[in-house]
Amino acid sequence: MGGIGEGGPISFELNNGANIPALGLGTWQAEPGVVGEAVKTAIEIGYRHLDCAPAYGNEKEIGLALKEIFQGNVVKREDLWITSKLWCTEYDPEDVPQALDRTLQDLQLDYVDLYLIHGPARLKKGTKGFIPKNFAPLDIPSTWKAMEKLLDTGKARSIGVSNFSVKKLKDLLIYARMIPAVNQVECHPVWQQHYLHSFCKSKGIHISAHSPLGSPGTPGIKVKVLEHPVLNEVAEKMGKTPAQVALRWGIQTGYSVLPKSTFEHELRENFKVLKWSIPTELLEHFSQIEQMRLVRSEYLVHETGSPYKSVEEIWDGEI
Ligand code: A2P
Repeated sequence: MGGIGEGGPISFELNNGANIPALGLGTWQAEPGVVGEAVKTAIEIGYRHLDCAPAYGNEKEIGLALKEIFQGNVVKREDLWITSKLWCTEYDPEDVPQALDRTLQDLQLDYVDLYLIHGPARLKKGTKGFIPKNFAPLDIPSTWKAMEKLLDTGKARSIGVSNFSVKKLKDLLIYARMIPAVNQVECHPVWQQHYLHSFCKSKGIHISAHSPLGSPGTPGIKVKVLEHPVLNEVAEKMGKTPAQVALRWGIQTGYSVLPKSTFEHELRENFKVLKWSIPTELLEHFSQIEQMRLVRSEYLVHETGSPYKSVEEIWDGEI
């Protein structure tokens, strides 16, 4: 773990020497109309890391906010870490550079710090929705080779994957010229990802945690991570909120965390996780928490079309 500037946010060093800030702003489900203000507020508060994706439908608005931020000299481009992702309609190697160009155009940037394959499912170009007739065969080796070429263009400074299991990473490592710098996956105290984490650690792949608060706003997620008694007990003992404890747990475990919010009070609350630690005796309590994947991607499961006939198959048994 290293530091960026005095008193600045801590960061994690990736396998290519780049430093990813430990705390980033998640923009999944950050609605158009509010996401731009949220980005500007977050950066004023001190956030230096944004997690974006064209699939979130808000990169254009984020781009406008970034333009204002740079024009106002609030921060410089090089002070920010910006991640985006290749959507699964663009996995044909020929489409990969164009997809990144579109994202750069929308974000009004010359490069992203990190570009990820969004997930292990592919849709036919131009289709929307994970319905059987839209699925296309996955060919991660050819997509990954195209991702590697992006590094040579300088338009993506690091590359990685998202929502990959240990098995999918192992398959990729057989032919990868560049080991992914990051695997972005669901991660929070109720889904701690110990197995994936120890594999990633052994290969030098950093884990970024999406849904680090357990994604309480997502329909269908019944387990409320922030209401878990262990989080609440630790929060009370430390004079912190359950959200701060969840995020701090993630950072102390070695994950960069990407909480989403569009509200200033939550953005401020979530930012205050960088200058204190959960002591070892309280950290041990997290091992008592029953483990459960909450963001299960059931929509990928179909009898025909989809490569996945069950949720177990998507995650190769890691559920
Ligand atoms: P909102 O959308 O109202 O800002 P995750 O990052 O795990 O996906 O969680 C995002 C969800 O958690 C959003 O519904 C967000 O609410 C909510 N949230 C973000 N920050 C906090 C916080 N500090 N306390 C409680 N809920 C939060």
